[in-house]
Amino acid sequence: MDALVIRNPELLADALRGLSQPRKFMEPKWFYDTEGSALFERITDLPEYYPTRTETAILTAAADRLAAHVPEGAELVELGSGASVKTRLLLDRLDGLSAYVPVDISAAFLKETARRLSQSYPALPIRPVVADFTRPLRLEDAGHSRVGFFPGSTLGNLDPAGARALLQGVRDWPGVRAFIVGIDLIKDEETLVRAYDDSAGVTAAFNLNLLHRMNREIGADFDTDRFAHRAIWNAGKARIEMHLESLADQSVRIGPRDIRFAKGETIHTENSHKFSEESFSTQAEQSGWTLAEFLTDADRLFGVAVLEPS
Ligand code: SAH
Ligand code: AVI
Repeated sequence: MDALVIRNPELLADALRGLSQPRKFMEPKWFYDTEGSALFERITDLPEYYPTRTETAILTAAADRLAAHVPEGAELVELGSGASVKTRLLLDRLDGLSAYVPVDISAAFLKETARRLSQSYPALPIRPVVADFTRPLRLEDAGHSRVGFFPGSTLGNLDPAGARALLQGVRDWPGVRAFIVGIDLIKDEETLVRAYDDSAGVTAAFNLNLLHRMNREIGADFDTDRFAHRAIWNAGKARIEMHLESLADQSVRIGPRDIRFAKGETIHTENSHKFSEESFSTQAEQSGWTLAEFLTDADRLFGVAVLEPS
């Protein structure tokens, strides 16, 4: 038998924990290796995936207004920065920043993004940080102000307690003056489900990449043809759930263990919570923030909130 190659012990520990539960789950942060980040970028261009183009339009229309919330000399800290495409809309209007700090878990993708940005903005110090934003981010008190930026509705991928913890964590950053947060709004089920189950199958590939990643990094032996992508609207919890459904009774090797899957059983891989202006502002207020501005599009598909410390 070949020696088992474990390139990612943290992923192995999380997979063994999540896949041993009566309801199997994986944290969505594991989607984002280099392949996952590239697949996400393809999702942002899909006709069904309205959030990116809608948020981009809101940010474009309101860029000057948003820039007014960023004091001269501030550091702009972006969580889950990905390809930092939307960030450019702000950077183009902010000459007086002391630095841009993109924070992301997808290390190689972040490094490449930072390299490209420093070509576009040669005078701006860019300080990428590879980190998990669900854990406290240690930012030194360097005497300057800070503004947080968290577009994409990535906040919605956390459960409500996790979202409050993140909002409180940012509130505690030294020098924090504002937090600009993108949130996806509740809408009709058909639009929501289509956004997470597109006709070209890109979101399915994004979801299934999690199994490929476990095969690559922890020597698992998932047969990805025997799992199918599912996207479900959970109205009670105001969230889209993504699952990977086992198409057969099967057993999968994960590190030292064999994990059984019954036909029809799923791995719950992601929640994408949707908000109303009111539900978001309540969550923000419980976390030490006041809603200073709420910008939306004509169809109220997506919202960009500007929070200030209360
Ligand atoms: N901000 C971009 C990308 C959103 S995709 C946009 O609006 O289009 C979500 C991003 O968050 C990805 O780049 C992913 O790598 C990152 N991410 C997901 N979970 C994370 C975590 N726990 N910690 C840090 N980054 C995370
Ligand atoms: C990053 N995040 C906000 C995306 C979302 O819409 O929840 C991730 C995603 N999952 C499937 N499609 C996009």
